[in-house]
Amino acid sequence: MLVLGIETSCDETAAAVVRREADGRASILSNVVRSQLDEHRAYGGVVPEIAARAHVDLLDHLVDQALREAGVRLAEVDAVAATAGPGLIGGLLVGVMTGKALAFAAGKPFLAINHLEGHALTPRLTDGIGFPYLLLLVTGGHTQLVAVHGLGRYERLGTTVDDAVGEAFDKVAKLLGLGYPGGPALERAATQGDPHRFALPRPMSGRPNCDFSFSGLKTAVRIEAERLVPLSEQDVADLCAGFQAAVVDVIRDRTRRALELFAGAIDPNVPLRLVVAGGVAANGSIRAALEELAFETGAALVAPPLRLCGDNAAMIAFAGAERLAAGETGGMETKARARWPL
Ligand code: KG4
Ligand code: ZN
Repeated sequence: MLVLGIETSCDETAAAVVRREADGRASILSNVVRSQLDEHRAYGGVVPEIAARAHVDLLDHLVDQALREAGVRLAEVDAVAATAGPGLIGGLLVGVMTGKALAFAAGKPFLAINHLEGHALTPRLTDGIGFPYLLLLVTGGHTQLVAVHGLGRYERLGTTVDDAVGEAFDKVAKLLGLGYPGGPALERAATQGDPHRFALPRPMSGRPNCDFSFSGLKTAVRIEAERLVPLSEQDVADLCAGFQAAVVDVIRDRTRRALELFAGAIDPNVPLRLVVAGGVAANGSIRAALEELAFETGAALVAPPLRLCGDNAAMIAFAGAERLAAGETGGMETKARARWPL
């Protein structure tokens, strides 16, 4: 089965074609992503109105390109899947309307996909793993620990009570003058820094639940930074290293707790699997900490390749293919929704 996927929930415009075999194996025939970084950089963050307009300008071309690169005509796809939420409503509307129009033109079903489900199912696309698994989803908008029991069967074990982890990276990077997007810049700066120079908090660590909190950590960095003004390059590097080390500790602690709960709840005969997904999964220190944790707990760690960790349409096409294979028929009546919990 062939599915065309569309992703426009934030500042990436993307289209992809995925093929799913009857046995569940899937392959990516094309995966085009056009980042709008240049459009937003001057504003230090994503401007929803600019994002929506850029999606309008770009999406038709990207869909054409995705079909061409896959060697597939629109008439040959079995369904069109588009992210319908959560995200910025303007962009979601562009993707959903375009997806519906294409599905209508092709006479095929339209599937409205939850963006978070796209991230959550990515390891099945890349590594073909079975259910269940524990998912650590870390993006610019979300930070969640989810027990994935099956398609559409998601049990949220923990979430952030304030900022998402990617958001915290972006805000700290901004306050340290590292520009946008902050995550990769902060990680780069941290390589030159001393993580022990500042005593920064590890919010929520040791709690019996699996929740996160990052706003206090961000404030602690701001207070240290304000004390040091004007900041030297070394000060910035040390603050970045300290912040990143604190985030890594928190993620390790919270994920360890979730793994305990998850392992206690699943059939002891199925392998314990930990999956990390979302744009922040590109962070090398976070990946390394999760590898250590997996080793200590006997879990298998699945981390999708970096190009599939960030926002893309292959994950949306794949989620659509999984839903289609499960018997879902889609519908033109589904609407874009800015908020849509997994
Ligand atoms: O999943 P994603 O591409 O978009 C959504 O938010 O859905 O994630 C983007 C987030 C941004 O906050 C970005 O700063 C963060 O992922 N990020 C990183 C790194 N690369 C991207 N954060 C920390 N370290 C990185 N290397
Ligand atoms: Zn995302």
